[in-house]
Amino acid sequence: MPVQDPNFVPEPAKGAEPGAQRSAEAVSTRLYNKFPVPQSLPGHGPARVIAMCNQKGGVGKTTTSINLAASLAAYGRRVLCVDFDPQGALSAGLGVSTHNVATIYDLLIGQLNDPREAIQETDFEGLDLIPANIDLSAAEVHLVTEVAREQILASILRKVSDDYDVIIIDCQPSLGLLTVNALTASHGVMIPLECEYFALRGVALLIETIEKVRSRLNPALELDGILPTMFDGRTLHAREVLDRVFEVFGDKVFDTVIGRTVKFPDASVAGVPIVEFAPGHPAAQAYKQLARELVARGAAA
Ligand SMILES: Nc1ncnc2c1ncn2[C@@H]1O[C@H](COP(=O)(O)OP(=O)(O)OP(=O)(O)O)[C@@H](O)[C@H]1O
Ligand SMILES: [Mg+2]
Repeated sequence: MPVQDPNFVPEPAKGAEPGAQRSAEAVSTRLYNKFPVPQSLPGHGPARVIAMCNQKGGVGKTTTSINLAASLAAYGRRVLCVDFDPQGALSAGLGVSTHNVATIYDLLIGQLNDPREAIQETDFEGLDLIPANIDLSAAEVHLVTEVAREQILASILRKVSDDYDVIIIDCQPSLGLLTVNALTASHGVMIPLECEYFALRGVALLIETIEKVRSRLNPALELDGILPTMFDGRTLHAREVLDRVFEVFGDKVFDTVIGRTVKFPDASVAGVPIVEFAPGHPAAQAYKQLARELVARGAAA
């Protein structure tokens, strides 16, 4: 056992250097300084729209939406989050009440025409939100009979695209009409993937859905990347899963990997992104790096 020195900085493991084959071992010892701080922007818009998508529940879609949005906003980007889940977890996570307010549902069913009437400012500079609540669970039934029912969200977001640099849509855990709307409205899709045994199940179906949307509705849709989440480098199991994810998806996997920590539930209870709640925590550092990686990859302004 090495002496516990608080200033001890681990040597990056073999494979951590740029261009090397990636491995879970390298990730476990990685330091979060790989991507440069993004340059400030001369102006804002038009937005790049990103759908946060995985039909599996509880994989970190909402946590990633909140913390990526807050990190991009902290780098001077204007960010709009769209809560697209009737659970309203994204709205709650940003400390926004969803009671008696205009929501994405009102826009979808045409009760409201101007998205600005539903947009709320959050406590975080540069970060706005269109909230959702349980009403949204009735939306699919309403939309089924609409003309161009898959394009409704796209036409809503187009109206405010020039006001933002990035729009992040937090999808619900399903591949139904709402998620197809999100994919149709997006330039890119990010897939958070929990580092556990059954994680890879269902990803093939998700990628098939993305392909279908691309060929039938939105030819420009790109897979921005797969984000491993809840990685616990101390367990052999998680390391095996992560190595398998690298093996199967190669370059499509983000360099940034989000570790498992109880700080996330704590931050959710506080209604604050972890990047604000515990900015020095490795998980906060990881989300800040994810924002820098996205910009470095050209997937955000
Ligand atoms: N890296 C992490 N480590 C530990 N807990 C996490 C991590 N990321 C998220 N969590 C917790 O796991 C739970 C599920 O996360 P989250 O709500 O982000 O997933 P989701 O994919 O949006 O779920 P749903 O499919 O229900 O919308 C939350 O309680 C959250 O606080
Ligand atoms: Mg969620």
